[in-house]
Amino acid sequence: MRSHLLNDTTADRYRRSVTEGIERVAAKLATTDRPFTGVTVDTLAPRIEQIDLDRPLHDTTAVLDELEEVYLRDAIYFHHPRYLAHLNCPVVIPAVLGEAVLSAVNSSLDTWDQSAGGTLIERKLIDWTNERIGLGPVADGVFTSGGSQSNLQALLLAREEAKPVRTGWEGAADLGTLRIFASEVSHFSVKKSAKLLGLSADSVVSIPVDHDQRLQTVALAHELERCERDGLVPMAVVATAGTTDFGSIDPLPEIAELCAQFGAWMHVDAAYGCGLLTSLKNRDRLGGIERADSVTVDYHKSFFQPVSSSAVLVRDASTLRHATYHAEYLNPLRMVQERIPNQVDKSLQTTRRFDALKLWMTLRVMGADGIGELFDEVCDLAAEGWKLLAADPRYDVVVEPSLSTLVFRYIPAAITDPAEIDRANLYARKALFASGDAVVAGTKVGGRHYLKFTLLNPETTTDDIAAVLDLIAGHAEQYLGESLDRAS
Ligand SMILES: Cc1ncc(COP(=O)(O)O)c(C=O)c1O
Repeated sequence: MRSHLLNDTTADRYRRSVTEGIERVAAKLATTDRPFTGVTVDTLAPRIEQIDLDRPLHDTTAVLDELEEVYLRDAIYFHHPRYLAHLNCPVVIPAVLGEAVLSAVNSSLDTWDQSAGGTLIERKLIDWTNERIGLGPVADGVFTSGGSQSNLQALLLAREEAKPVRTGWEGAADLGTLRIFASEVSHFSVKKSAKLLGLSADSVVSIPVDHDQRLQTVALAHELERCERDGLVPMAVVATAGTTDFGSIDPLPEIAELCAQFGAWMHVDAAYGCGLLTSLKNRDRLGGIERADSVTVDYHKSFFQPVSSSAVLVRDASTLRHATYHAEYLNPLRMVQERIPNQVDKSLQTTRRFDALKLWMTLRVMGADGIGELFDEVCDLAAEGWKLLAADPRYDVVVEPSLSTLVFRYIPAAITDPAEIDRANLYARKALFASGDAVVAGTKVGGRHYLKFTLLNPETTTDDIAAVLDLIAGHAEQYLGESLDRAS
């Protein structure tokens, strides 16, 4: 069994084994003609169920053959130009190379003595990101597992910094006075974080959005005033720079003003919009982000990085102390005095992947402008897609994109019942998924069912968009035709 351990004596086995896996994936990518096969849970589950994990195959080729059956053949392929659903990007090759290196070396970024150069590389990437954001001379941050964790950590720091200073940890009533303000289309991890942080059920105040799906600052100002009047504490405002559904960017400068006025922590959730940090063309859309107290960036959304790759950045490095605990066996306090850099002092995690290496490889091979070009392409594609939708009488499209999503709904001229239109759109999404011809997402707007394209693949063309719109219309029409038959 020792021959399976990766070490000085098994380098050849490692090379052969990984190369064989890479060959399989490369062949798959080269021949995949649809983003999905349309396999159902009922078909796939028994295939996985019948595998006896207590009877190993002892042969890499046989295991890869089996993997083909249970995973590779029917996986959802984000690199395919007709995968248009969620915030998943195709990945860049330098980052995949980084992934291979980081898992083989297996550094853990909690302490210097488990990572050495890995820690310094991560720190340099945090500084690089902070410089791009403009957070100032004492900014810091740390890589996290994703946007949800980044938001959680930012709100933890905000809770600890909330004024007036609370008297003790135990003060439940104290926590109950804290309020977070976020738009009605902010990410659900804000509410989840509030719960995890022990805040009250009504701690997240939902602020309405305008026609462009951006937080209304007049409404925010009213809520902040009300909060103050009621003797409550405006703990944080979460501004979203790239909402999950619409890609809309909240008015950051105005929100920064209000945060300064009311003493609220300004968190910018730029999980999606962070790609603009590398854009030569559209960087100004993030104007005001430099005034944030904390920022979430998901490199695994708009920097074309494999999952996971995210960071939370803070204007004031000292606020990260709220996540610091010292353990004699890992990161004793004396190491701070000895100036030994232990990233665990800043992180909610202990053992932590060296995800930063993927971004490092990407920047060293392609450069930041290369990432920005790719992101600009998908933003341009969304603008073209919007024109197509706006000119198409079969569809209602919600808002002109600020980034790269399109939310729309099939609206047949002959049908006026909104519930029936809902059902036609839901059916079309399901039927399209089952066909595997394309994958699209769905959401609700004003209580009605809509469909969504999240465009993160520069290989997707306007022809793809037009073709998928035809497919959707075809499925919806089929549903409505059958529905009429059922009624008659
Ligand atoms: C705006 C926004 N914030 C946070 C998140 C959460 O990110 P993650 O899925 O990496 O936890 C998402 C995910 O889609 C998002 O769109």
